[in-house]
Amino acid sequence: MAKIYKNIVILTGAGISAESGLATFRSENGLWNKHRVEDVATIEAYWKNPDYVHDFYNQMRPELFNAKPNAAHLAITKLQEKYNSNINVITQNVDTLHEKAGNKNVWHIHGQINQIVCMNCGHVFETWGDVSSEDSCPHCGISAMLKPNIVFFGENLLYMDKVDELLQTCNLFISVGTSGVVYPAAGFVQVAKFYGADTIEVNLEETSNNYLFGRHIYGKAGKALPDLVNELLEQKEEA
Ligand code: APR
Ligand code: ZN
Repeated sequence: MAKIYKNIVILTGAGISAESGLATFRSENGLWNKHRVEDVATIEAYWKNPDYVHDFYNQMRPELFNAKPNAAHLAITKLQEKYNSNINVITQNVDTLHEKAGNKNVWHIHGQINQIVCMNCGHVFETWGDVSSEDSCPHCGISAMLKPNIVFFGENLLYMDKVDELLQTCNLFISVGTSGVVYPAAGFVQVAKFYGADTIEVNLEETSNNYLFGRHIYGKAGKALPDLVNELLEQKEEA
């Protein structure tokens, strides 16, 4: 019997951006195989050597600025436009490919590469350029307190009140391109399931929390997600 979902949540990880040419974190040539997390993605690393951390993200910015969304990102726009229900994207990615594809309701729980936060006054501003410890905050003027607005390990995720609300009300939870090893994001499926959602995982391979999902679609997101979107739209037609 065709099912219609009123509230859909799509959780995305680095795998959805892989076909746009962006590196994931934990594959053999992933980011965390070239850099130690402890050196570039913790607040201790930042205070120890702020410009080393800034350079890591400065080097990342041009590639992410030029990256183009792929069929997986575009499939989400198609679903949001044609399925007309409440569809939110919770992304762990700091790239802006969801926005470039026209996705709405995108929640960057790990922050964004093109945002800088002042740790003195909390002001967040956008830039695609380089940042260093010499730069001062455009709002309060202090220098050496600007940090990429990227959530480092051990820091609180962003938008968690909204995420809680979405997970408790969604009827369908789709996870795309995440290894499911970093919490709390890896636990979102458990919450959604507890509140009654159907759960689907789209990935190249089995992940560490794959036992939590009701359905698995193995394959590249650039093909698997458009196929799933078409299936959902057909189901809606039949209902
Ligand atoms: N299509 C679908 N899935 C893919 C594709 C693809 N084309 N390419 C890779 N994948 C899958 C991999 O199989 C893997 O399960 O994407 C996942 C990428 O896993 P990670 O590299 O661990 O990235 P992610 O899950 O997003 O990491 C979560 O960890 O380091 C932190 O903050 C960082 O947001 C990141 C978080
Ligand atoms: Zn400031």
